[in-house]
Amino acid sequence: MEIQWYPGHMAKTKRMLEQNIRLVDAVVEVVDARIPQSSKNPYLNSLWKRRPRVIVLNKADLADPKVTASWKSWYEKQGYGVVVLDALHGRGVKEISEKVSRVCREKLERQAQKGMKRPLRMMITGIPNVGKSTLINQMVGRSGAAKTGDKPGVTKGKQWIKVEGSDRNGSAGLELLDTPGILWPKFEDPQVGLKIAFIGSINDEILEVYTLACELLRYMKTYYPGALMERYRVTEEELEQEPEGLLECIGRRRGHLRSGGIVDTERTAKVLMDEYRGGKLGRLTLEWPSSERKDTDAESADGSNPEV
Ligand code: G4P
Repeated sequence: MEIQWYPGHMAKTKRMLEQNIRLVDAVVEVVDARIPQSSKNPYLNSLWKRRPRVIVLNKADLADPKVTASWKSWYEKQGYGVVVLDALHGRGVKEISEKVSRVCREKLERQAQKGMKRPLRMMITGIPNVGKSTLINQMVGRSGAAKTGDKPGVTKGKQWIKVEGSDRNGSAGLELLDTPGILWPKFEDPQVGLKIAFIGSINDEILEVYTLACELLRYMKTYYPGALMERYRVTEEELEQEPEGLLECIGRRRGHLRSGGIVDTERTAKVLMDEYRGGKLGRLTLEWPSSERKDTDAESADGSNPEV
């Protein structure tokens, strides 16, 4: 299954980012902790150039904590400020302002020497559906400042938002720019496109849910067979089937039957995707840092994609 999705509004967002990058002191890139490499937009690397960057590993509540810790140190070794976040429950939110101030320390010191005092400005970016709006709502301390929802590609206008409480203790505070989710024109590695689709960052309307669910099962069979056995009560023997057979088996077990006893695999596929996305199968990370790889400014968001 080859997935490509780069609608026109993303090209518009790209231009908007290029126009606004000079206005910000730091960039906060939100990625999904379940796929911290594939959900990191390689196009943004070339855009940010030398601006200090903070990577936020969001949805940490859905990812394997041990692997998240490995990713944190992996990115830190490459010079990023890194925050592990569960924006839904507000865990880790305060750390973001601290990290941004830390990566901008030199700039703040230079400004102080010149007697300048102005808020630090940061841009919050990332691919669709990684939790940018949820995070912003947490940072500004009220809900509704940024619109949340699971429709990747909902365009939002440019707006500077003040971070609540950031101007206490004599600091000039922090302001942030909310930016719409952006992907890149071509996924060189089809596995990257797949994983981005698994987490709901590609408009589901362009995806065949049956094929997507089979691809997810391929990953699950390889890396998390125990989670499948536990959730869907499939046996080791059943797990050995191809994903299509396994999906049918799960559907039968769940009672997704049409007249004549035929399994409604479309329905099972939808249920599987929803349950995976909602964390019902456990805290599952689909990629691991590799010590050999370096996240250079090259176009390389394909990561240490496991071979499946
Ligand atoms: P975006 O701006 O990057 O596009 O993402 P957004 O904040 O709209 O979040 C997308 C979905 O992810 C929302 O769920 C949101 O609640 C959920 N989410 C955000 N951060 C976290 C997190 O840390 N952990 C978990 N488990 N979920 C998170 P939704 O069901 O699509 O919408 P809603 O019904 O919650 O509004």
